[in-house]
Amino acid sequence: MAATRPYYADRGLSAAFYDTVTAADARLAGDLEIYAALAPEGGPILELGAGTGRLAVALAERGFSVTGVEIAPAMLAQAAAKRTELDPEVARRIELKRGDMTALDLRRTFAAVICPYFTLAHVPRGAAWKNTFATAARHLEAGGLAAFHLPLPEAMRQAAPGSPELPVLDRPAPSGGRLRLYVRERAFREDVGRLDQVIEYVELDARGAVLRRSLERLTYYWTDPEPLAAGEGLVPDRAPIPLGGVGEIHVFRKT
Ligand SMILES: C[S@@+](CC[C@H](N)C(=O)[O-])C[C@H]1O[C@@H](n2cnc3c(N)ncnc32)[C@H](O)[C@@H]1O
Repeated sequence: MAATRPYYADRGLSAAFYDTVTAADARLAGDLEIYAALAPEGGPILELGAGTGRLAVALAERGFSVTGVEIAPAMLAQAAAKRTELDPEVARRIELKRGDMTALDLRRTFAAVICPYFTLAHVPRGAAWKNTFATAARHLEAGGLAAFHLPLPEAMRQAAPGSPELPVLDRPAPSGGRLRLYVRERAFREDVGRLDQVIEYVELDARGAVLRRSLERLTYYWTDPEPLAAGEGLVPDRAPIPLGGVGEIHVFRKT
């Protein structure tokens, strides 16, 4: 098999087509409303792993001040480009920063901290998870809420859907051709709570010829978040909120 890139790498297609893929992902439907309900009018909200600004832009359009922290330059650049296209009043409510949520100190607090769409699952469980909960606690006002969207372990254990030769997604690409995604490898390791996947992105032109292809490695980690959150003074605020059948949003309150 050809060399694989990490997800969201420079020149990778997972970054280039992030918005195309998430727009088609029904498993995220309704997440914006859940996060918007966690902060008072205006926010402020800290988003850990802001990606291309999918939620930061939508929350700012609803009147929230949002600070988005993102580690991958290829994702942050798209968020920054979107920000320049917004109404200046909305753009002023968005602050974007390159940073690592496992080691972040902005020296200010927020009414809510959100860590959407499996972002916590992208970093190894253990120290990286513990440090991310510490980041959330450090940046929350007393009584503020932190939300972490995690995959369900039973969904992570499921075998790859169908055959590796059948696309799991086949969508029009912005270029006028098509984008197809294939799950080439998928294995869950129970002992370390880790799902390893290799996803192939294939971009076709309007006549079906391959323009670009890229093998990208997507790893998710899972462990019970509650003990790690409790260690940082974050207690469950409610039962986890199910989302899209494959994940749930854990909401904690800073004591
Ligand atoms: C699935 S995307 C979610 C993007 C956005 N929050 C959304 O909901 O559309 C996960 C993002 O988290 C970022 N990320 C992963 N590890 C990170 C870390 N340690 N610190 C900051 N961002 C991180 C990735 O680069 C990626 O952009």
